[in-house]
Amino acid sequence: MPPPALTIRPIAAGEEKDVIAIWTACGLTRPWNDPDNDLAFARGKENSDVLVGLADGEIVAAVMVGHDGHRGTMYYVGVRPDLQKTGYGRTLVAAAEAWLKSKGIWMVNLLVRSGNEKVLGFYASLGYGANSAQSLEKWIDPAKRGDA
Ligand SMILES: CC(C)(COP(=O)(O)OP(=O)(O)OC[C@H]1O[C@@H](n2cnc3c(N)ncnc32)[C@H](O)[C@@H]1OP(=O)(O)O)[C@@H](O)C(=O)NCCC(=O)NCCS
Repeated sequence: MPPPALTIRPIAAGEEKDVIAIWTACGLTRPWNDPDNDLAFARGKENSDVLVGLADGEIVAAVMVGHDGHRGTMYYVGVRPDLQKTGYGRTLVAAAEAWLKSKGIWMVNLLVRSGNEKVLGFYASLGYGANSAQSLEKWIDPAKRGDA
């Protein structure tokens, strides 16, 4: 039987724990990135939001999307592990792309962590490819410094 359709919308009040549970189960959280803080910082802004995917009324996927006025990006792209490889990830990323396009953004840059190369095939199937740029970073608030 095909999986239930995925409905995607911005996160609503009270859904934070469900979203963070998905991100945690997907291995997307890191000790130096407080997901509660990241979620609160991004949600419901003019240039960023957190989108949830619901199947049969239950949150089973989530993504953080945003732009800096030039390029768009996505973070915390996650589908509940037992429901992966059923097309939800494709639908989730398409919704994030649509969100960006609605803001006038025409290009996405996203980061795949070292060690997570297995998802490159997923992004390739959605039309994402490696570029020749190098990703640089600087922690301008040393108090929040992490490793990735
Ligand atoms: C990455 C992730 C979001 C993909 O979601 P998903 O629901 O499993 O993906 P889909 O079922 O929508 O797959 C879409 C396409 O990608 C392909 N695909 C999915 N995972 C793949 C993989 N690991 N390698 C190669 N192709 C893959 C699917 O076969 C499908 O291709 P098709 O439409 O041509 O058949 C999901 O695996 C996940 O949450 N992973 C853990 C968190 C993570 O690493 N997120 C990315 C951070 S950069």
